[in-house]
Amino acid sequence: MSDKIEDAIRNPQNLGEMSGADAVGTAGSSDCGDMLRMWIKFREVGGRKVIDKATFQSFGCQTAIAVASMATEMIKGKTPGEALAMSGTDLSAPLGPLPPMKIHCAQLVEGALKNALTGEPSGASRPSGPTLSDSFHQPAKVTIKLHS
Ligand code: FES
Repeated sequence: MSDKIEDAIRNPQNLGEMSGADAVGTAGSSDCGDMLRMWIKFREVGGRKVIDKATFQSFGCQTAIAVASMATEMIKGKTPGEALAMSGTDLSAPLGPLPPMKIHCAQLVEGALKNALTGEPSGASRPSGPTLSDSFHQPAKVTIKLHS
C-alpha cells in the first residue's frame, strides 16, 4: 500500500455528514457490498455554480476512504460539469495506481459523486439492496474494514 494511501487513511479529510448540504449521493458496490455517501455544498463564483465543499461517510474499505478523502478535496472549486467529467481513475490519481482488485473502490467514490450531482445511480456502483441502505439509517458512524 502506498504511503499516500496510508496517510489518507490515517487522516481522512472531509469525513462526516454535512448539515445543510445542497446535494447528497450514495453508491454501493456490487463487488464487495461496501457503500459510500457524499454530501456537496455549492457556492456562486463570478456567476458560476462551483463546489464549495464536499464531505463523505463510508461503510467501505480503507481504499474507498482514501480515495473519497482525496476526491472531496480535488472537486472543490470545480463546476458540477467539471466534477462529473472526473473518473474514478482521476479521483484516485494522487494516490498512485490502484491494484486491480481496488479499482472498484475508486469507482464507488465516482458513483457517489455522480449520484450527488445528477441524482442518477452510475456505472458499476449503485445501491444494491435494502440491507445496505438500511445501514445508513443507523446513527452516523464510520466503519473501517481491514482488508489484507
Ligand atoms: Fe470494495 Fe474497497 S470498496 S473493497
